[in-house]
Amino acid sequence: MDPHRSLRASILFALGAAGCSSSSTASTGSGEPAVVAIATPTATASAEPEPPPDPEPDADRGRPVSKGIGWITEKDGSVHRGSRTTCDTAIQKTTCAGTENHLSCRADADCKSGPNGRCTSGIGQVGTYCSCTYACEKDEDCGADEVCVCRGTGTLSAPHSVCAKAACKVDADCPESSCGLSVFNNGCHEQVSLACRTKADACHTDAECHGRAGARGGGACVVRGVGTRDAASLQWECGYRSCVIGRPLVVGGEARAAGTASREDWRTSADIDIESLSPDLRAALAEHHAAAAAMEHASVASFARFSLQLLALGAPAELVAEAHRAALDEVEHARLGYGIASRFAGRALGPSILPEATAPLAADMVGVVEALVEEGCVGETLGAAEGMELERRAADRGLAEALARIAEDEERHAQLAWRSLKWLLEVGGEEARCAARRAFARAVSQYGRDPEDGPVVREDLGVLSARTLGRLRREVLAEVVEPCRAALGLAS
Ligand SMILES: [Fe+2]
Ligand SMILES: [Fe+2]
Repeated sequence: MDPHRSLRASILFALGAAGCSSSSTASTGSGEPAVVAIATPTATASAEPEPPPDPEPDADRGRPVSKGIGWITEKDGSVHRGSRTTCDTAIQKTTCAGTENHLSCRADADCKSGPNGRCTSGIGQVGTYCSCTYACEKDEDCGADEVCVCRGTGTLSAPHSVCAKAACKVDADCPESSCGLSVFNNGCHEQVSLACRTKADACHTDAECHGRAGARGGGACVVRGVGTRDAASLQWECGYRSCVIGRPLVVGGEARAAGTASREDWRTSADIDIESLSPDLRAALAEHHAAAAAMEHASVASFARFSLQLLALGAPAELVAEAHRAALDEVEHARLGYGIASRFAGRALGPSILPEATAPLAADMVGVVEALVEEGCVGETLGAAEGMELERRAADRGLAEALARIAEDEERHAQLAWRSLKWLLEVGGEEARCAARRAFARAVSQYGRDPEDGPVVREDLGVLSARTLGRLRREVLAEVVEPCRAALGLAS
C-alpha cells in the first residue's frame, strides 16, 4: 500500500520530473521510488504510559506559600512576585558580526524601539540573522500593563530580562492568592505573563501537567490570554506544544502568529454538530482550532513576503502570481479555521494584531532557499498530507468539507514551493544547492520526531494524536519529500 502516491506524483508532475510517475525520475534504478527510512526516535516506540489521574482540587491552591520580596520560587517550582525588582540588563547573546544572512540591524545604535537595545546574532529556520534584542531593568521600561521579568526567573529561557503582559504586578494585587509567573513555550515561541492564582485553577505546578490528557511528558501550568481577556476570566491550566505545521511566518528565526480576539469578520459559518460534546471538550477544541487558524492567518503574511522575495530575485511571472493566489487561499483557510474554532467556542473568534507581518525583509539567495525548503518544500508538503489525514478521519461532514478545502489548497502550495525551489536552484548555482541541502537536513531531523500531544486528542474532530502525526510525518518525509529531493538532484 502506498498512501502518499498521489501527493508524491502531483509534486513530481509539477516539477516536470516524471510525467506523473513516481518511479522513473526519483528512482533507485530498479523502478522503485527512492523511498528512505526516517528513523523513529526510540522514545516514540515505547508503550504509551498511563496518564496519572488528575489531581484533586486543593483548598490551599492559590495562596502564596511564602511571603517575601522580589521573585519567589516555591519548593514545588512555582514562581510568584512579592515586590517590584530591578533586573540585570545583560544580554547573553552574540553581537552581530554583519556577515549573517539576514540583517534587520547592524549595530546597537540601530536598536531604539525598546530599552537597552543590542544588535545580536542568531541562527533560526531562515539561517543566520541579526535582530534587535532588548532587556528591561525595571517595570517602567515596559508598557503600562507589563512588568520586567529578570533573566533566569523560573523556567524563563530567554538569555535576558523581558517585558511580560501582567494582569497583576505583585502578590498584593491578588488579595487571597499570589501573582504567579507563567512561562509557556508553545513550540514556536515563549509566552511570558503574570496573573493571579485562583482556587478555580486547573493546576498549580508544571509537574501536575506531565503526562495528563494522554500527553507523553512536557507541558506546563500556564495562564493564557493575559492582555486580551478580561482578568476575571483568566485561569491557570496545563499548556502543551500546539504550534502547528504549515507555512509559518518566520521573523528573527521564530514563527510568529497573532493572538485570539473576539471579532466577527474573520470567520465562515461552520456547520459542525457539537451537541454531544461537553463544555470542557468544546473549549479545548476551540483553543486548538484557534491556534491552527492563527497559523493560517500568519501564512497570509508569509506568502505576501515570499512574493516580494520572488520579485526581488527576478522570478517568472507565473511563480509570483501563484504566490499571490496562495496568500488569498490562506485568507480563506484562516476564515475556515476561525469558523471551526468559533463554532466550538460558541462565540465569534478571530486574530488580534500581527505587527511582525511588516518586519524588515531580506532577499538574498541563500536565505530565501533555506526558508523555502523548510517552510515550503517540507512544511507545506507535510501540511498537505496532514490535511488529507485530518479529512479522512473527520467524522463530522461539515468539518470534513472545511478540511478537504484546506488540504486541496495545501497540495497546490507544496507544488508551488517545489517549483520555486527548482527555479532558484537553476539561477542560484552551487551556493543555492548547498543551502538547500543544509535546510533539508535540518528540516528532516526537526520533523522526524513526534511532536507532543496537546490537552485534547480527538482525531474525529480535527486533532491528531502526536503518535499519528509523528508517524505520518516520517512516512511523508521518506515517501514524498525524499523522492522529490532526488528529482532535483538533492538526494540525502
Ligand atoms: Fe493554509
Ligand atoms: Fe498553505
